[in-house]
Amino acid sequence: SADILTELRRHIRTVPDWPVPGVQFRDITPLLAEPAAFKLMIDALAARYEAMRPELIAGLEARGFIIGAALAYRLGVGFMPIRKKGKLPHECIEESYLLEYGSATVEAHVDALRPGQRVVLVDDLIASGGTMGAGARLLQRLGAELLECAAVIDLPALRGSQQLREAGLPVFALLEYA
Ligand code: HPA
Repeated sequence: SADILTELRRHIRTVPDWPVPGVQFRDITPLLAEPAAFKLMIDALAARYEAMRPELIAGLEARGFIIGAALAYRLGVGFMPIRKKGKLPHECIEESYLLEYGSATVEAHVDALRPGQRVVLVDDLIASGGTMGAGARLLQRLGAELLECAAVIDLPALRGSQQLREAGLPVFALLEYA
């Protein structure tokens, strides 16, 4: 397990000063491009969630789609997209969250899940926790049994995962970056 996480870490690239000065961007595209590493990542998540018997994986646009869809396929369950406002064609509910400047809104279809359905919410990374929190609120409003908020990477210094846990949400990440 420690060696699996070390191998995943080896394929995550840090881009200094992107998208703005001072940010060290953790870029998972090299991991996605390496088939053995991509498989290790999905298998590590599947090993955790198999036992929890989710019925649906919800993925946050855009990198949460890549990881969430692969995980759903691996577990043999359905996939539900949570998208930026204005992208989904059917009737939606929305949740907004605060950014450093302004706010952002995510949406889900009103009929995307059945009340009581067991759902894992997936994104690539937890920074401020805003996106994950909004996604979790959408799922709860739709009546989901939210099993866990899952990410590949947590940035604990930004306190997002801490805030989510303080709001009562179970949170898991494979890796932490200081
Ligand atoms: N990587 C990807 N997404 C992000 C990051 C990062 O380092 N920080 C905030 N969003």
